[in-house]
Amino acid sequence: MKKIQILPSILGTDHDALPHVCEDFEKAGANQIHIDVMDGVFVPTKNFSPSTVKSCKLSTSLPLNVHLMVSEPLDMITDYATAGADTIHIHIESNSDIYTSLKKIKDNKKISGITINPTTSIETILPLIDKKLVDEVLIMTVNPGLGGQKYISDVESKIGVIRNRFPHVDITVDGGIDNISIGTAAAKGANRFVVGSYLFSLKDLQSGVSNLRSIAELNYNHSP
Ligand code: DX5
Ligand code: ZN
Repeated sequence: MKKIQILPSILGTDHDALPHVCEDFEKAGANQIHIDVMDGVFVPTKNFSPSTVKSCKLSTSLPLNVHLMVSEPLDMITDYATAGADTIHIHIESNSDIYTSLKKIKDNKKISGITINPTTSIETILPLIDKKLVDEVLIMTVNPGLGGQKYISDVESKIGVIRNRFPHVDITVDGGIDNISIGTAAAKGANRFVVGSYLFSLKDLQSGVSNLRSIAELNYNHSP
């Protein structure tokens, strides 16, 4: 069985509140912090910068999982790597050369991730996993750009395709994950879960994180 991980998303957190929020998630037992970077072009909103990553790095020892929702990730990889990202995700739909970008992530000694939007064919990323250019696949279960959207369950068939072909790759799902969708995504073979608004809606983060992990562990299927 792949190790189940819970990755709180700090999208929507004020820059000044970041250290405190990252500390709270670490105390609550989260496995990584997921940081959504938006450029105002690939998605309508513009937000975090490398200084966000630096601020989190200083306040937590958890790995930082950086999701670049940007048109030209190639130009930004070194800055985010230097700021303290542990994993860097680029979108298959971005404009940068994907092979060069993934190589740059690896050259910076970071974990490389490919992210795919709900409407993009899964075929586009299979060769990248096959050639071992990516360590983690981030499957969007909402359209990127906003927290608090409804989980798109149609995307689950993609999770199953990846898990059956690549038993060892880490499959992360991002968008609309709560105490119900985490179970159905895990049943298709997802083993890492980005959770934003659901976690922020809970009073007790620690029991929230551990309940989510238990549901995922109970439902995880390695051969969906
Ligand atoms: C969406 C972002 C997500 C978002 C998840 O574009 O990539 O990481 O923060 O938030 P929820 O869990 O609220 O959908
Ligand atoms: Zn994200």
